[in-house]
Amino acid sequence: MTIDPILIIEQFYPPQTQLYQVLVVHSRIVTQKSLEIAEHLSGLDPDVEFIKTAAMLHDIGIFKTRALSIGCTGTDPYIRHGYLGRKLLDELGLPPEYGLVCERHTGAGITRENIVSNTLPLPPRDMVPQSLEEKIICIADKYHSKNPKYSDQKMTVESILESLEKIDDSHARRFSGWVKEFNLKQW
Ligand SMILES: [Fe+2]
Repeated sequence: MTIDPILIIEQFYPPQTQLYQVLVVHSRIVTQKSLEIAEHLSGLDPDVEFIKTAAMLHDIGIFKTRALSIGCTGTDPYIRHGYLGRKLLDELGLPPEYGLVCERHTGAGITRENIVSNTLPLPPRDMVPQSLEEKIICIADKYHSKNPKYSDQKMTVESILESLEKIDDSHARRFSGWVKEFNLKQW
């Protein structure tokens, strides 16, 4: 099954719009970063073809949410964009692995416990990256802001940990685990 992520994006984001630009630029950067990480982890044999497509689609759900600073004028809370992206890709009939990348990339993943204890507007289930490819794309996404205002900002492992700590300690701990597991500081 060959999937062209740009054709899928264009079904929901009219080219020429600001949001299309924001999404495609960010998705290309995250795809590039994911491939760079995958190369460092080639010994673990990540599925590079899958990563190329899934990373381009990880934020497909943002148009349904409200985040005016990046041009999202939908109605759902922004935190639902991964979950909504999964729903959308599932409904298009893509293999479930693609939707799971969307659902599990927010923060350093969101646990069922995070959702319940903070009454987050999400179904109460674990949304934490499980596969190597899910982890790679989630990590890559943390290096780059979608907001064009901050897109030049170079994130480091330290600054990512700092910003995850502001969301919740458990996010920072999970990311720390990946820093060790994948030696993220060594490159
Ligand atoms: Fe996202």
